[in-house]
Amino acid sequence: MKKKIAIFISGRGSNMKAIVEQCRNGILKNLVDVEVVFANKEDAAGLDYARSMGIRTKWISSKGLKRSVFDQKVIDFLDGFTIDYIILAGYMRVLSGIFVNAFSGKIINIHPADTFKHQGLHAYEWAFNNNLQETKITVHYVDEGMDTGAVISQHIVDLKGVQTLKEVEERGLKVEHKFYSEIIRMLILNETN
Ligand code: GRF
Repeated sequence: MKKKIAIFISGRGSNMKAIVEQCRNGILKNLVDVEVVFANKEDAAGLDYARSMGIRTKWISSKGLKRSVFDQKVIDFLDGFTIDYIILAGYMRVLSGIFVNAFSGKIINIHPADTFKHQGLHAYEWAFNNNLQETKITVHYVDEGMDTGAVISQHIVDLKGVQTLKEVEERGLKVEHKFYSEIIRMLILNETN
């Protein structure tokens, strides 16, 4: 049976788009249904793309709300669904214990650096400013910390010869867009075999 996922975004949503494409016509076809794309802000650009693909969307403003109060609202919303995995894709919020416990072991994130070396924002800037010859994209389980959850898998990004931050981001995102779906597929196949 197909697994049901909710994808959480806060902005552009290019990883969400890549996953949706894999669900429709790629390696997640017949394996995954995107039940809902959720955002913590109304103007998250990725919501428009999701709507245009006929996917249900939902936003709840997190502005000014205590982390646990906001997360409870999201839990209440998701109560109407059966969700196998929550896929964070550029979701710019640290999750509270209440949320992590509600979906224990089912929340996954992609981080554009080696989470053992760099957590939080500006990971591509960090790689560029430190002249790294390679960086790593990390897919990990999510706990209450910022990019501290158990690592599922990492993928190297070759940065040799890059001149600009834009090039770093381009090389990194190219890997992210392929790698995230591959790991989701692997998790689902491991679970069902
Ligand atoms: C990506 O680099 C992702 O790894 C990080 O935030 C960025 C989101 O980009 N967590 P997008 O919204 O998926 O385009």
